[in-house]
Parts: sequence; C-alpha cells; structure tokens
Amino acid sequence: MKTTTDFVQMKRIGEPIVMLTAYDYPSAKFAEEANVDMILVGDSLGMVVLGYDSTIPVTVDEMIHHSKAVRRGAKETFIVTDMPFMSYHLSKEDTLRNARRIMQESGANAVKVEGADDVIDVISSLTKAGVAVVAHLGLTPQSVNVLGGYKVQGKDVESARKLLADAKACEEAGAIALVLECVPKQLGEEISRMLSIPTIGIGAGVQTDGQVLVYHDLIGYGVGHVPKFVKQYESVHERIVGGIAEYVSEVKARKFPEEKHTFTMKEEQMLALYG
Ligand code: KIV
Ligand code: NA
Repeated sequence: MKTTTDFVQMKRIGEPIVMLTAYDYPSAKFAEEANVDMILVGDSLGMVVLGYDSTIPVTVDEMIHHSKAVRRGAKETFIVTDMPFMSYHLSKEDTLRNARRIMQESGANAVKVEGADDVIDVISSLTKAGVAVVAHLGLTPQSVNVLGGYKVQGKDVESARKLLADAKACEEAGAIALVLECVPKQLGEEISRMLSIPTIGIGAGVQTDGQVLVYHDLIGYGVGHVPKFVKQYESVHERIVGGIAEYVSEVKARKFPEEKHTFTMKEEQMLALYG
C-alpha cells in the first residue's frame, strides 16, 4: 500500500497522484484493480449513491458503513474517508470521537475535512492524535448554503489571497495533502508550487500534484448534471438501462429463462414423488 511518504515522494519526482472516489465493495475493487493511488470515500456518497441533493444530510454512521465496504474491496489501497457535515465543528472532543470511530470502525488511512478558519485547529488536533488529515479548499460542498451554490472559488484578488493563506495554514497544521476543488488553474498551480504536501485537484487545472474524480462521474453511472471539470471515460448508465430493458422484454416474451438456466429433478425421484 502506498503511504503518506510515497505521496510526498511522488510530488517530488513529479509523478501525478491519481485519486478516485468509491462507496462500496465493487467500486473499491475496480478502483484498486485499475491501480488508482488512493481512494476517497467522499461524502459525495450522499448525492451519487443515496440520492440526497447535497452532502449535508450524510452522517458519520453512513460514512463508516460505506467505508467498511470500500476497505473490504480495496485492502491494498490508501483510503481517505470524508468527515461529514458538522462532524468536526461541535467540540474538540466530538471531533476526536468521530475521527476515532471512522479510523477504528472502517479501517480508513486518513480523514478529510473541508475549509480553513476554525478547521485549522481541527487539522492540528487530529494530527496530534495520530490521525492523518487531508484538507479540502476552494469549493467546499458542505458549505454550499454559505457559498450560494456550486461555483468556482478564488476568482477575485481578495478570495485568492485568502485561499493561498488557507492552503499554507492547512500545511502548517499538519495536513498530509490538500484537495483543491473548482479554483482557477493559476491558483491550482501556485498553491501546488508553494506547498510541500501534495495537492489533489478537481477542477483546479493541470498543474496540481494529483487529480480526483467522482466514480459515478468518470464512468457515466448516474443521473443528473455533469460538471465542466469531469471527463466521462465511459457511459455505463445507458448500458445498464439497456440490459435491464432487455431482461424486461425477454421475460414478457417468455424468451428468458431458457432451458440452460433451469434445474432438473432425476426421473426416479419424479416417479417416487408422484407414484
Ligand atoms: O466527496 C467527494 O467526492 C469529494 C471530492 C469531490 C473531492 O470531496
Ligand atoms: Na466530499
């Protein structure tokens, strides 16, 4: 399994770090089979798997439930689990308790938290407790109601300055990596140059130290809006619906099941049964 040290080394030698989200046993297994460097059990879980319209309803229990399945599917891959909405804001004790549950019950290798400000202390106290923390800046979906929508962040001087300062503060607090979501490519590049921890971009340009995509977006397995920063490498949605529709029509037409799909009782057993 690649570790925190390997990721820093990859940044140093300029080898891009590939991260992908996964939420269950098969998605984790496929991600590992395809050699991703790290898996994120993202709270995007709420939107792509559980059907909520934001990440806000996702609970620690749901994150653990899914992370356990991901761990079973990807035993040899570094797993980062998102701490969900408000699970690291109430108090230091509550934050540590939630992180302890995620680490111990799901077997994750790190947790991810969104934002800076008060979250800088969270990063530092988790790190002191031995929890590896990935920071997440730029578009932070748990704050969608504060940000006023899912929009590119850091486009003006003031917010760009804050983003640069926040990134530095995350590193100084002990973060092992920084996810940068939906920021201008120039900031993605500048922050990556400025930090010694790896940056993992999503809609943050080509110069970040790594990239992350949501599993369902990458393979076209889902419903709804696909953001500009996504490249859909597959479109399994159509193939799945096509397969199911064929099943429906074959059952209706009595074409399925066929003889080869059925089981047979031996003749003598039939005789014994009916005399
Ligand atoms: O929840 C998630 O999938 C994420 C990534 C988009 C970075 O946080
Ligand atoms: Na997330």
